[in-house]
Amino acid sequence: MDKAAAEVRIAELHREIGYHDHRYYTLDDPVISDAAYDRLMRELVELEEQFPDLVTADSPTRRVSGLPADRFEKVVHRLPMLSLANAFDDQEISEFDERVRKALGTAEVEYVCEPKLDGLAVELIYEGGRLSKAATRGDGEVGEEVTQNLRTVKNVPLELAGQAPRYLEVRGEVFIRKADFLRLNQKREEAGEPPFVNPRNSAAGSLRQLDPRVTASRPLRFFAYEIGHADGLSFSTHLEKLSLLEGLGLPVNQFRHRAAGLPGVREAYRALLERRHQLPYEVDGLVVKVNEEDLRKRLGQVSRSPRWAMAYKFPPEEEQTRVVEIEVQVGRTGALTPVAKLEPVYVGGVTVSRATLHNEDELRRKDVRVGDFVFVRRAGDVIPEIAQVVLDRRTGSEQTFELPQSCPACGAPTVREEGGAITRCSNASTACPAQLVAGILHFAARGAMDIDGLGEKLCEQLVGCSLVKTLSDLYRLDLEKLLSLERMAEKSAQNLLSALERSKSTTTRKLLFALGIRHVGEATARQLAERFGDVRSLFFATEEELTLVRDVGPQMAKEIHAFFVSPKNRQVIEELLALGVTPRPPEVPSGGPFAGKTVVLTGGLCSMTREKAKEEIERRGGKVAGSVSRKTDLMVAGGDAGSKLKKAAALGVRVVDEKGFLALLEG
Ligand code: IVH
Repeated sequence: MDKAAAEVRIAELHREIGYHDHRYYTLDDPVISDAAYDRLMRELVELEEQFPDLVTADSPTRRVSGLPADRFEKVVHRLPMLSLANAFDDQEISEFDERVRKALGTAEVEYVCEPKLDGLAVELIYEGGRLSKAATRGDGEVGEEVTQNLRTVKNVPLELAGQAPRYLEVRGEVFIRKADFLRLNQKREEAGEPPFVNPRNSAAGSLRQLDPRVTASRPLRFFAYEIGHADGLSFSTHLEKLSLLEGLGLPVNQFRHRAAGLPGVREAYRALLERRHQLPYEVDGLVVKVNEEDLRKRLGQVSRSPRWAMAYKFPPEEEQTRVVEIEVQVGRTGALTPVAKLEPVYVGGVTVSRATLHNEDELRRKDVRVGDFVFVRRAGDVIPEIAQVVLDRRTGSEQTFELPQSCPACGAPTVREEGGAITRCSNASTACPAQLVAGILHFAARGAMDIDGLGEKLCEQLVGCSLVKTLSDLYRLDLEKLLSLERMAEKSAQNLLSALERSKSTTTRKLLFALGIRHVGEATARQLAERFGDVRSLFFATEEELTLVRDVGPQMAKEIHAFFVSPKNRQVIEELLALGVTPRPPEVPSGGPFAGKTVVLTGGLCSMTREKAKEEIERRGGKVAGSVSRKTDLMVAGGDAGSKLKKAAALGVRVVDEKGFLALLEG
């Protein structure tokens, strides 16, 4: 691949990975398998290795993924919650060991091996021995406050046992045991509620509930495995740390193996793999950690992961089943996705009855036919994929499948973009009921307009009865119209109307995201909102101006421009505004320690990247300058600050260290 092509692909990968991060981490609703995600990430890592000058500061390889949802209070982690790099085979884990040994200059390293639990990472803060705060990992730097919810987790002590330290950040995993998961789903099905897809999702969904009573009704469990910041507690190895945690009454996994070098790691891996199915909870690999804390400090971290730990993943689980039918789904942008309906099969703890085939090329590449026996693979993930067709079992009666020439929802001809893999319905998004339904669902989603209670069935009804023909029609709904729908109770109708009313008070960013402009995800919507302030200003933005926005390349600028010059789209936006949707422009804070201040960053920070620090300052109304002058109001001096620090001191500029900076941020 040449450099120009690599640049285009890298930009695509950024967008794709960002989208999947959001689905997985923020919405708890991933649309691709972990294996498929890992492939995207690897492709990006490889391209970046090949073209190092195409690596950007905001590449997904450089940061911890996911954004906190807007509905919870945000918590800035004192020390970032990192994620683990993965090893998928023996070769990759030996490379890890080699890197560690080389960096430390030792012949053998002592590791501790623990199960990698498939749940959700959280941080619990104990002050004076009492649980004072709990937060999810979020994007690693900012998480969501879930204190009340965590208090309902049965095995989390509200008060520590023994000699409690003054301040303690405990990190660990919230999860659901396999048997509890099955029982929970049984109850949900009996109550007519949709079942959860897997234990990880049900744990995440249960913890991120606005109503702690709901969390309390779910059988969540917790295991502690690390310590963040601590005051009044000392330990020099990981095993010692785990024993201390245990002594304080915290649940710690019993499976923890001291492993002497690589042979020890291999042995622990085999032992855990063998026991995998007997364990009461899902485990998707082995976590290998350097035991000595001092050595960990020397190893440090690289981008999003510590150099002292690795997740040694288990191979994905596969089962055979049969393709009963291939269906076509039409998405928000009209894209046709073939989906295989399968004879239900139990793979790695989940019953699977559908698998996406992504697009026509993928369907051809795998050559999946109706009636085929296939291997379905699930790698600790949610949406399973078809790994391959079992050719030996073909009888000749299998039927190949072609994407239809006309849209299954509206009958308009379908077209395949030149050079692209995607076949689309050629109809306008409002003229095709499937596109419209998907567009409304996106509009109503969390992170967009946040309209509770507007699910798929209801959207289909609203579109089917022509009550909603454009997004703005949603705000024209009233009690009478809603009650004309089949099976609509007055209470639900009232609830929906209140949710619609509530959604009117929104932000420019959310509205821009909700409109469903192609390629405009939450991050781009935020950038657009910050630059243009209000939606109407975008009507007049030129393509050139749009390319000045971070993340927006020429192709995307074209799409955004085309969207806002379209009279139809403008009309919908005007109608939304006229019907009472009031987006607030991004806030420029007027108070606080950073507002209106010029700040210079120098030296390295341990708890965040420089880009992140800059973002945090700007979000609080400050400006970050590259050099020190009389105009500098504040200097943040990290670890190895040099000449700039001297100059600042000479000029009498106020200087804070990292701790002081974090305190100002928490303000
Ligand atoms: S240690 C930097 N230990 O895996 C080290 N993590 O990708 C931080 N996880 O977010 C984590 N079991 O949700 C650690 N025994 C274990 C774990 C574990 C599961 C999860 C955790 C974390 C993710 C890292």
